[in-house]
Amino acid sequence: MLRRDFMDRRTFLETGMCLGASFLVGCQPKDKSQQQKETMHHQDHSSHAAANQDDKKNIAVPYTYQSPLLEREKFPSHQPLQPLKPLLNQSNTTNSFEANIEVKPHTLSLVPSLQTEFFLYNGILAGPQIVVNEGDTVKIKVTNRLTQPTTIHWHGLPVPSKQDGNPQDAIEPYGSRVYQFKLPSGSAGTYWYHSHAHGLTSEQTYKGLAGSFIVKSKDDPLRDLPEQHWLISDLRLDENGNIPENTALDWMNGREGNFVLINGQLEPKITIKGTERIRIWNACNARYLRLKILDCKIIVIGSDGGLLESPQNQEELFLSPGERYEIIVETSTKRNTHLVLLPYNREKMMQAFEPETITLAEVTVSPLDKPIPQKLRELPPLETPQETKHIVYTEVMNHSEGHGHDDMQGMSAMSMQDLQNMFLINGKTYDMGRMDLTSKVNVPEKWVIKNDSHMDHNFHLHGTQFYVLSHELNGKVSKPDYKSLKDTINLKPYETVSIICKQQLTGIRLFHCHVLEHENLGMMAQLNVLE
Ligand code: C2O
Ligand code: CU
Ligand code: CU
Repeated sequence: MLRRDFMDRRTFLETGMCLGASFLVGCQPKDKSQQQKETMHHQDHSSHAAANQDDKKNIAVPYTYQSPLLEREKFPSHQPLQPLKPLLNQSNTTNSFEANIEVKPHTLSLVPSLQTEFFLYNGILAGPQIVVNEGDTVKIKVTNRLTQPTTIHWHGLPVPSKQDGNPQDAIEPYGSRVYQFKLPSGSAGTYWYHSHAHGLTSEQTYKGLAGSFIVKSKDDPLRDLPEQHWLISDLRLDENGNIPENTALDWMNGREGNFVLINGQLEPKITIKGTERIRIWNACNARYLRLKILDCKIIVIGSDGGLLESPQNQEELFLSPGERYEIIVETSTKRNTHLVLLPYNREKMMQAFEPETITLAEVTVSPLDKPIPQKLRELPPLETPQETKHIVYTEVMNHSEGHGHDDMQGMSAMSMQDLQNMFLINGKTYDMGRMDLTSKVNVPEKWVIKNDSHMDHNFHLHGTQFYVLSHELNGKVSKPDYKSLKDTINLKPYETVSIICKQQLTGIRLFHCHVLEHENLGMMAQLNVLE
């Protein structure tokens, strides 16, 4: 264990990731006065800068927060879990869903006597939930009341490229547009939607622009089960109730909030009355979720793209950012227990791994009261790939000189510019105007994705679901335990994942790491799907 750690850090040095010798001892928390001194320093620095974007790109990004974070005890908790609020269907025609979404700044008081300014869809924390049926035509008018552009991306859904909220199709401030698409049969599953505005995805999403999207099917064998939904997100609040900006460490490692919430609530009380279908979303910008319900079994029944072929028993559930699962919880006897987040080491830079377990909810579970069918559905067959594509994730340090000072115990300060050249796909940072790959519509392809870096990154492809064929790590090849439709999959450091995918519609499709800070910094590329 120690040796591996040492090796990682060594490779890290050799590839030029060195930010000064101090990271070898990890990022030590500093006392408040030291933090404040540094913050002051940065404020001075930025006030001298011209309002010009290029200048801004060269300003050092602080390593530390401006004010201390809010203590956990101040945030109300232990309330019964509230269901996600629905987005109401305003259409009175069958097979049609019509609604309006307003994207706007919205102030909520989650913590007594503190006000927090979010960016929300219709003013709803954890997002209004969209529930439609396969075959429905969806028409959603989106009005942007932010002072910055936005888009809505329908994560995982097979919608036409022009309707998929690509960064090229921004809704300008105070502008609006209609997203319209028809959901094909076979698309039933658990999806979500979030901002994909160019260079703003991280901020807009951590401020609240994300919601859940469920597609139902008429021949779903679990149609009659009661459902509950756990949308897990994390929120960072400082002691004044403000949502702080990203630090340099957030940009590098992905931003994690100090509060992990379910449906916007801290440590809620959840009651599972028997055989219930539970849909779970990892809507965090960067937090990896290793979930466990103590003393209970998890029966996985669905993944990103809908039901599995048969139920699968598991001890715990792993969701990297953007992933979803459907589960049923099994217990031998009625009990009061906890839903917890187990530690997961994703090899963050300059931050020592602290193996802590976080309680997410108090759970009362009762034994199953209805049988679970052993056959859930037949998934489409694996086709023979006709093309192979190779994707490589790397991290490099192009540290530009000239900040004139060292920050944080001798670590060089980094600017947005430095950060933007750090996380690459096939050696490049994202460029809206560049097509990185092309595919032919309806041609099955094998994609071999390699994480050639020392940190976990995941892979998400727009426009379609895929099957994972294999994982390869340290020369060991393994296959997934069961067949499932996925649109997001994790890669450990130096892991290679092979998938099979097929785009059924033409146009631009993005693929990226779903740690949204990495996506935002340009760990993203474009596929052009041609006729
Ligand atoms: Cu959920 Cu391109 O994203
Ligand atoms: Cu997506
Ligand atoms: Cu990443």
